[in-house]
Amino acid sequence: MKSIPFLVPLLILLACGSPTPTPPPPGLEPTFVVGPTYAVQPTFAVTPPPDPGRLIFFSQGCAACHTIAGISDTTTDATISPDLTNIATVAATRKPPLAAEDYIRESIQSPEAFVVAGFKPLMPALAEGTTERELEDLVDFLLKQQ
Ligand code: HEC
Repeated sequence: MKSIPFLVPLLILLACGSPTPTPPPPGLEPTFVVGPTYAVQPTFAVTPPPDPGRLIFFSQGCAACHTIAGISDTTTDATISPDLTNIATVAATRKPPLAAEDYIRESIQSPEAFVVAGFKPLMPALAEGTTERELEDLVDFLLKQQ
């Protein structure tokens, strides 16, 4: 019985009925296993929100007729609908002194107000129920195509 020598001091201490807690005798200290600590970092999805105007450009069918390089590669012949890759720059020259932003807004709201030379007035009006906010998002999106 190897453990008896260890128990003897403990039994003596218990017999004395010490009022204050006595530190455990050598060899009987409790052992604590300290595990590794992990810093758990929260993960955040950092995907930027999609451009609302870009979504409208597709949902309103604009992309079916108009090409914007790298965004909307429509199969429609560029001689049927103008390419809008640089519309922000082109728009500033269409109806001087009308600013690019105003020209783009007018082109969408009243396509027949100005028909680009060499093209036919084929552009449809915006879908019914399109909000002012959606129109502005669309204008903002096209103003980024410089
Ligand atoms: C059925 C094909 C068609 C669709 C769909 C269409 N367009 Fe057009 N769009 C045209 C044609 C054709 C022109 C050129 C004739 C004109 O000026 O009206 C044009 C002209 C434009 C112009 C002026 C371009 C310039 O070079 O001055 C803008 C801006 C434009 N469209 C934006 C849009 C937007 C935004 C939408 C979606 C809400 C849209 N278009 C939907 C056919 C289309």
